[in-house]
Amino acid sequence: MAKARTIFREFLKSPNKVGAVAPSSRFLASAMLNELDWETLRTVVEYGPGTGAISKYLLRRVQDHQKYFAVELNASFIAGLRRRLPELQVFNESVSDIRSICDREKVDWVDGIISGLPWTSFPESLQEELLEATLSVLADKGQFVTFAYVHGLPLQNARRFRRRLKETFSSVKVSPVIWRNVPPAIFYSCRK
Ligand SMILES: C[S@@+](CC[C@H](N)C(=O)[O-])C[C@H]1O[C@@H](n2cnc3c(N)ncnc32)[C@H](O)[C@@H]1O
Repeated sequence: MAKARTIFREFLKSPNKVGAVAPSSRFLASAMLNELDWETLRTVVEYGPGTGAISKYLLRRVQDHQKYFAVELNASFIAGLRRRLPELQVFNESVSDIRSICDREKVDWVDGIISGLPWTSFPESLQEELLEATLSVLADKGQFVTFAYVHGLPLQNARRFRRRLKETFSSVKVSPVIWRNVPPAIFYSCRK
């Protein structure tokens, strides 16, 4: 409940950056995580963990030989993440800086990215910048998984973003609707 309040409060402060009124459900989190090639994955990065709704499942899935860290821009979420998930390595930075974060962490290539970013609330120039930064770290055939709310899909910015994903990645798969999420969502499973 405290997590739901936190994300709602942060949404009211900056709707275009937070983009969600409630944390993702475990059904959405598990479905997204099931997309990753866990057998071969060496490094996974989470974009925009917020209150850690997906991070807690990632922490359970990642094994000792695999590296996982998260990047969260909003400092208000960081203290809560550090308190609730002390084992989570999280950087209070923007995904725009993902290449330099990876360099610092001695990560050449990332095999999988789980994104919680509200892409369709971003201006196109920022979408472009963040996707370019993403491609600069994503391994060949690397995976990029990101969700979108069903009620927003008919809107022009969502249609534009889907087109942008198709132009950016070699394959883009759309999931069935995850009804057990507030609001219901789909996710895109993309491969470089
Ligand atoms: C829709 S919330 C998702 C929270 C959580 N992953 C979930 O699924 O419940 C979006 C998150 O992305 C973060 N965010 C927005 N822009 C970002 C950026 N450029 N770099 C890193 N995080 C960002 C926001 O602060 C927010 O925590």
